Amino acid sequence: MASSFSRLAATLGRRQAALELRWLKAAQVHAPLEEMVSRRVAGEPLQYILETQPFGPLTLKTRAPTLIPRPETEDWTIRLAELLKNTSSKRRRKVLDLGTGSGCIPLLLCELLPQGTLTTFGVDQSLLAVQLARENAELTGFSTDEQRNTFSAFQASFLDPLFPQLHLGLEPPFDVLTSNPPYISWNEYLRLPNSVLNYEDPKALFGGPDGLDFYRAIARLAATRGFLSPDAVVAVEVGDGQAQQVEEIFHSVARVNSVIWLDPWDKQRTVVVWLQPVDASHSRRFISGESGYPQ
Ligand SMILES: C[S@@+](CC[C@H](N)C(=O)[O-])C[C@H]1O[C@@H](n2cnc3c(N)ncnc32)[C@H](O)[C@@H]1O
Repeated sequence: MASSFSRLAATLGRRQAALELRWLKAAQVHAPLEEMVSRRVAGEPLQYILETQPFGPLTLKTRAPTLIPRPETEDWTIRLAELLKNTSSKRRRKVLDLGTGSGCIPLLLCELLPQGTLTTFGVDQSLLAVQLARENAELTGFSTDEQRNTFSAFQASFLDPLFPQLHLGLEPPFDVLTSNPPYISWNEYLRLPNSVLNYEDPKALFGGPDGLDFYRAIARLAATRGFLSPDAVVAVEVGDGQAQQVEEIFHSVARVNSVIWLDPWDKQRTVVVWLQPVDASHSRRFISGESGYPQ
């Protein structure tokens, strides 16, 4: 029988195979190496086989079909943490993450901001995602200790028109609203690679015919009286070519200012919206480097 290396190399190339074989051998999982290699050769994402993914300084659990946290999400979450650090708040901030998946966004904020300054919540329609997010909260130590930052996950659909009134244990008004919602349009969905299509939850990916359904729902929530604090900030990840349309969606429901952050690959990746109108000269400005509240 071919060696593990040659089986991996036939699919991944020798260089990548050597790297991945090292990671598979070091993996802290209860599966024989040959079984892991077969799963990898069949196209399963490495992170589901290793059962972990680094996200900033955190190492989070990953489990199919909950979305594997992506580097572009890590990048803007770190930038958002810097922005929040640079703007003082007299009270403990409340953060709500919509479509929380593994809980990666609020958990990284919990890690990067001073302890005892954040209470974060995440909602997801998927019970499997909520369970994973709760495990990640335990793993990272951000579950219940009020001396530290905390994260709680709840199962709910934020497309539900009654979502703001559901008594889930969420505590509006929120000071920060984050989301990496499903944003793949129908046409793009059909072109996704099998490694995504066969393993990751379609409900984590498909954002309606034009990919923008979830942004409309988030903008409506942002405009719902009492849901956000008056000076709240909203940060949403967007797909290729969606940034301006997403800005328009927010501008159409509320009087807001917004900027677009580029990701490390120079793609317009995050729309950041401030509810309280600020200096108009900062409105719609592109920021690719350091972030900060418009003064
Ligand atoms: C693109 S994934 C992002 C997951 C995670 N935030 C991340 O960045 O890795 C979108 C998430 O939204 C969830 N989702 C989809 N529709 C939803 C809905 N109507 N209400 C709540 N969550 C939803 C999916 O289950 C999925 O976990």
